[in-house]
Amino acid sequence: NEAVIGNVLKRWLDSGKIKREDLFILTKLPPIGMRPEHVPHFIQLSLKNLQLDYLDLYLVHCPVGFQYVDAKQLFPMEGDTLSVDTKTDLEAIWGAMEAQVEKGLARSIGISNFCRSQIERIMKVSKIQPANHQIELHAYFQRPALMETCRKHNITVVAYAPIGSPGRKQYYEHRGLAFEPISILEDQEVLDIAKNHSKTPAQILMKFLVQQDIAVIPKSTNPERLLQNFDLFNFELTSTEMERLKALDKGEAGRTFNAELLGPAILNNPEGKNFFVD
Ligand code: A2P
Repeated sequence: NEAVIGNVLKRWLDSGKIKREDLFILTKLPPIGMRPEHVPHFIQLSLKNLQLDYLDLYLVHCPVGFQYVDAKQLFPMEGDTLSVDTKTDLEAIWGAMEAQVEKGLARSIGISNFCRSQIERIMKVSKIQPANHQIELHAYFQRPALMETCRKHNITVVAYAPIGSPGRKQYYEHRGLAFEPISILEDQEVLDIAKNHSKTPAQILMKFLVQQDIAVIPKSTNPERLLQNFDLFNFELTSTEMERLKALDKGEAGRTFNAELLGPAILNNPEGKNFFVD
């Protein structure tokens, strides 16, 4: 969606109603760009699509590389198997990410979907440390150990799927994949707390994270829900409510993005066995 967003950004920036420095724009190095020599090409491609000359944050999308076929095939397939790159060198990629900051193309850099040991490896080699980690995080999947590692290294956290990613059933079925959604929005505890505050379950789930200094990025295509998802700053959850929500953690069973969706080929990658583990 970068090119579409780029057109909208250009319209708004040209109108003078908004300035570049009022915005915080991040995008990611895709798995098909996971070779150090490809990083400059992919960041330039993103900047071109977004019609910008710098990013505020550039993330390594995931620790596993996929084979590069062309820039449009983000999930390259060989038959019904994901075509995984058998050589991913995370430390070398981090060096290439740092070079983008040095060139002024990214103000900061970060990671996404890394496990604790991969974070520790990056910390060992980094001259510029990861500013941010973007991970699946919600009340059913709270990842205390991974969160502790991020806190220890002052890495801020962004939660994707903060309300459990309810729209993915349709998306996966469209791609011919079975998918069992988690019904976190219907959890009785969440419904009860929502009633206490006259808020929606989605707002309670997001506030639970925001109140722990975790940023949330709920997707929505619905204007009313988009507004609702920003409307989190006029109430506070009590410490008892926070504890009740903490008690909803299901550990690994709460994970909804998992390696099985990508298939066993993921193990052909040197980082594959660590992909989607904490
Ligand atoms: P819609 O686009 O119709 O609003 P996630 O970001 O966790 O992957 O979730 C995205 C999904 O959550 C989309 O299907 C989106 O549907 C739905 N969604 C977004 N905001 C809300 C909300 N406030 N309440 C209920 N569903 C929501």
